Order: sequence, then C-alpha cells, then structure tokens
Amino acid sequence: MDQNLRVPGPTPLPAEVREAQAAPMIDHRGTEFGEMLREISAGLAELIGTQGDVLLLTGSGTGALEAAVVNTLSPGDRVLGVTIGAFGDRFIKIATAFEAQVDRFEVDWGHAADPAVLAAHLATNPAYRAVLVTHNETSTGVTNPLHELASVVRNAPDEPLLVVDGISGLGAMPFEMDDWGIDLVVSASQKAFMASPGIAIAALSQRAWNATETARMPRVYWDLAEARKWAEKGQTPWTPAVSVAFGLRVGVRRLLAEGRERTWARHAAIASAVQAGLEALGLVLVAAPADRSQTVTAAWLPDGVEWGPFNAAMRARGLIVAGGQGAWVGRILRFGHMGGVGIDAMCEAVRVMGETLAEHGRSADADAAVRVMREAFEARQAAPVG
Ligand SMILES: Cc1ncc(COP(=O)(O)O)c(C=O)c1O
Repeated sequence: MDQNLRVPGPTPLPAEVREAQAAPMIDHRGTEFGEMLREISAGLAELIGTQGDVLLLTGSGTGALEAAVVNTLSPGDRVLGVTIGAFGDRFIKIATAFEAQVDRFEVDWGHAADPAVLAAHLATNPAYRAVLVTHNETSTGVTNPLHELASVVRNAPDEPLLVVDGISGLGAMPFEMDDWGIDLVVSASQKAFMASPGIAIAALSQRAWNATETARMPRVYWDLAEARKWAEKGQTPWTPAVSVAFGLRVGVRRLLAEGRERTWARHAAIASAVQAGLEALGLVLVAAPADRSQTVTAAWLPDGVEWGPFNAAMRARGLIVAGGQGAWVGRILRFGHMGGVGIDAMCEAVRVMGETLAEHGRSADADAAVRVMREAFEARQAAPVG
C-alpha cells in the first residue's frame, strides 16, 4: 500500500528527487561535486533572500542549530531564547549545554511571540549577545511573526545577533534574510526542499561571520569557518551526504522554477484548505487563525479519541501523521504540508482521517470536509499573492 506521508518532515520525495538520489556515487573532491555544491548554495541563497554565504553541512537540522550556537557565542554570553514550543526549548538546551547564560522568553504553547512584549523585555533587561528565535514552531503548528520580531531585535540595545531556527519554514514561507536583518538561519534537506534527511543548511550574514572570529565555544565538526574555506574550493571539510545532495539539487531547482512567491502562495492555499478540512471534520485547531503555520497544522484530539488506536487505524489505511511532542503527547495530532504538496494528496489524507474518526465514534463527514477543502483551496488560489 502507498503511504500518504503527512508528518512535518521528512516530506515525500518527488519521483525526480528519488531518481536523482539513486545516481551512481561520485568523487566528493571532484569538479562534478563542486559544481553541484555551488549550484545548491546559490539557489538556496536566492530562495531565502540573501547575498551572503549558504553552507551545506552533513547532519540533521539539530546539528545546524548546534553549529549556529557554537560558531557565534562564547561561554558566559548572555543569550535570550524565545521559545514557543519544543523546538524553541531545544535551541535553548543547546546554548545552555555550551554554557551560554540563557534567559527564557517563554510563550504558552499554541501561541506566537508578541513583538511588543519582546521589545519591552529587551528594553528592560541588560543587553544580550544573541537572541534565538524559532520561525515556525513545528511542535504546535504556530509561526512567529519573524519580520516584526527581527525588527525589534535589530533595535535592541547593543545590537544582539539574531539567530533563527528556520528548519520547518524555509523555502515554504516568506523569508527575506537580508531585508529582515537575520544574522544566521538554519534549515534541513528533508523539509520544504523535498530531499532525504542528511543535509543541514546554514546561512550567515557578515555580522555572523564577524562573531565567529571571537566566539570561543568549542567546535570541530561544526566549525563554519572551516566549512566556508572548503566551500570556496567546491568541497566540504568532511565527507558529505552526496546522494542527498543529488536530491537537494533537484528540490532547489524545482522551487526556483516555481518561483518563491508562487511557492509561498501554494503553501498558504494548501494550509488554509487543510485547516478548513480539519475543522469541517469537527476538530479544533491549536493555533488562532493569525498564528497558524503554512507548513504544519496541529489539532486537538477530540475527547474520547485515544491517540494510540486512532493513529494505528490511520496508519493501517496508509495515512501517516504525527502526534504531539513533550507535554502534548497524546493530546494533539500534527499534519505536515510542506514541500511538493498538492491539494489532491491533502484531500485524500483528510478523507482518510474523517473515515477513521467516524469509525472511532465521532460524527465526521469526510466527503463534506473534502468539498470544503477544495473550496478553500480555490478561494486562496484566486486571491492575490502576498
Ligand atoms: C523547527 C524545528 N527545529 C528543529 C528541528 C530538528 O531538526 P532535525 O530533526 O532535522 O534534527 C525540527 C524538526 O522537525 C524542526 O521542525
């Protein structure tokens, strides 16, 4: 049975990506690899709106979060960790492990950070060396207003570095690294870029590079200055995930061919269709409309529906969604819609979820939910991009 993989990463691989990833191995110190590395980095830079360097690292997104911390900070540095969920907590955990002095700017799960409250915090506390922010909090399906938060951080005392976890948003949602004044952002191949897991992405501003020169946290594998030195020669310091790079090149080419604004509009239209469909099934969404993510939707599990058997029943029908994380295990389900997503696969997923809910004693009309989804999708497709 084919799986309808709707977890918020890894995302389904388009056939073209799968074929590329099956290509014969090449020398990672040869010209062919060098050309591929340069093409992917340049393409990513265009997609995220930067003239700066975009580095490809071998590892998952968490490795790039660690790289972001250890390359820009020193033990004892005052850092503000903006956390709205499990991944914001992870960023803080990493900075704390490397002995930054981290203050938590904590927002209740299910909500976005408020720029005015962040501004007040920054104005009334001693200056920070860096502010860590998650763009899209995958554990709750909430997107932070990053452009506004960035402008608050840019105006804060002593100009802290703005270091962003863009793992589940980059490539799918509006993002203007240079215009918004982001110093460092990371992501990973298995999210909107439609490739297998294995390559982490790190983009740095000049201010971030300046910070690497004085940062004293220990680093070897994740040394970004070393990665940049090798990237200039078309190589990576350590053996790269070559097959993933073959796939990532195709993913990046597909996104460039679609065009950033159209990709963002497609994700927005799919997200509003999924939200409408789940609500039509009687589910209550976690996030308020203004905070809802365009790449992952979280909904409360209805009373009386137990995650274990419900999830098993969906999986038996080929639908793979994610459950909750941390304190929200068994309380929510999460539905991913990033990368090469199209409306038909999403409608099919919501239909299967509706039929499974009906089997679990809920009154859910799957056909009606799918109709609502298609209407919501078409309404958004017709709306101007923005
Ligand atoms: C926002 C965010 N941060 C960090 C991570 C961790 O990335 P990885 O699992 O690739 O290490 C994820 C993965 O889902 C994520 O969505």
